[in-house]
Amino acid sequence: MSGLPWELVCAECSSVYAGDAFRYRCDCGGTLDVQHAVTTSVSDELFDDRLRSKAPLDRSGVWRFRELVLPLSERYVCTRGEGNTPLYWSDRVARYVGLNQLGLKHEGENPTGSFKDRGMTTGMSMARYFGAEKVAVASTGNTSASAAAYAAMAGLESIVFIPDGQIAYGKLGQALAYGARTVQIAGDFDDAMRLVERMCNEDGIYLLNSVNPFRIEGQKAIGFELLQDLDWTVPDWIVLPGGNLGNNTALTKGMLELKARGIISKLPRVAVIQASGANPLHRAWHGDGVLRPVKADTIATAIKIGAPVSFTKSVRGLRALGGVVEQVTDTEILEAKAVVDAAGIGAEPASCATVAGVRKLVAAGTIPPDALVCGVLTGHVLKDPGVVVDYHTGKHPGTRANPPVRVAANLDAIRTVLSKHP
Ligand code: F0G
Repeated sequence: MSGLPWELVCAECSSVYAGDAFRYRCDCGGTLDVQHAVTTSVSDELFDDRLRSKAPLDRSGVWRFRELVLPLSERYVCTRGEGNTPLYWSDRVARYVGLNQLGLKHEGENPTGSFKDRGMTTGMSMARYFGAEKVAVASTGNTSASAAAYAAMAGLESIVFIPDGQIAYGKLGQALAYGARTVQIAGDFDDAMRLVERMCNEDGIYLLNSVNPFRIEGQKAIGFELLQDLDWTVPDWIVLPGGNLGNNTALTKGMLELKARGIISKLPRVAVIQASGANPLHRAWHGDGVLRPVKADTIATAIKIGAPVSFTKSVRGLRALGGVVEQVTDTEILEAKAVVDAAGIGAEPASCATVAGVRKLVAAGTIPPDALVCGVLTGHVLKDPGVVVDYHTGKHPGTRANPPVRVAANLDAIRTVLSKHP
C-alpha cells in the first residue's frame, strides 16, 4: 500500500500497481491509468466556490479540480496558475464551419502557450513527490517548452529530445530560454520518443511524456473547466486534434469520471481530428482497429506523429463516448487557421485541425448545424510564426493571404498603397 489515494491499472491487461510505483508501463508493455479511490464527495458548487478563492491551488484551472485530478499533498505541487483559458464564441468561425455557434477553448493561452501546462503541473509535482533531480521528454515542441519551464520553476534539470529541424521556432526558443538541455535528434518524433523512454528507464530520469499517467490526469481539467465555463451544461460535441493521443484519452477519461461522480448526467460526443499525413488513428478506426505506425508528414508539426503512445486508451475512450475520427489535409488546416487567426483569436496549425475537422463533420452531416459544439485550440499563434509568414507571403497555397507591402518611406507612396484594395 502506498498511502496514496489511487492505484495504477494497466490499460491492456488490468494488472494493478501501487500509486507510488515508479513506472510508466505495465510489465506487459501496456500503458497505465490512474484509478482514483473515491474517498471524498465533490460537487459542481465546490468547484464554483473555488473560483472566488485566492489560494494558489484554487486559482489553478487544474488543481481547482484536485479531488478528480490528483489528490496530492500541496507541498509537492508546482503550479503556475495554469488553465483558466478563455472560451471564445466567434460568429465568423461558426459561419466558416457551418454551425450556428461554436465555442473555442483556447488552451494556447496557458502559461507556456499550450495545453501541455495542464499535464505538466501534475507530472512535475509527481517528479517532486518522487524526489527526482532530472526530468526528460521527447517532443514536437510544446511538451518540451512546458517541461523546461516547469522544471526550472521546480528547481529540476530538464532534458528534451526534439526531432532535428522539425519543430517550430517559438517552441525551440522556449526550450532554450528556459534552460533545458536540448538534444536535437537526427530522426523524427517517434524515434525521439523511443529513445527518451529507454534512457529514462535505464538512467532513472523521470519521464514526463504523456505515457506518464499523471500527465493525463492534469489534462483532464480541460474538459472540467470547459464544462464549468458552460455552467455545467454538457455540449453535444467536443472536438480536438490528435497526435500522440494523450489529450483525447484525458478528455474521455475525465468525462466518464464526472458522470460516475454524478456531476454530469450525460456524456458529450468526442471527435478527434488528425492530419491526413499523420493519421494512424484514423486508419485504424476506419479499418480493422489495429495500430500500424506510419511515417508522419504534415505542416502541423505538433501532431507529426506516426506511432501514438496512447492509442489503446484513446480508442477505449472514443468507443465509450460515441466518438468519431476525422482527418484533414494541410491545405484544410491552413485555410481554417487563416479564419481563426483573422477572427482575432489565432492559434498554431495543429490547433486549427480542430476547426477544419468540425467543418468537414458538419458538411458530412455528422454534426448538425444547431449542435452545441466546443473545439479545443491547443497552442498559441506565436508558437509557429514561420507557417504564418509563409502562408501570407504565398509560400503555401491559400485563399486568404494577407501579404505585407513594401513601400518607400514617404506618406504619398504609403497613401497610394493604402487606397488600393488588397
Ligand atoms: N496540438 C498541439 C499544439 C500539440 O502540441 C499536440 C501534441 C497536440 C495537439 C496533440 O496532442 O499528442 O495529446 O494527441 N504535442 C506533443 C508535444 C506531442 O511534444 O508537444 P496529443
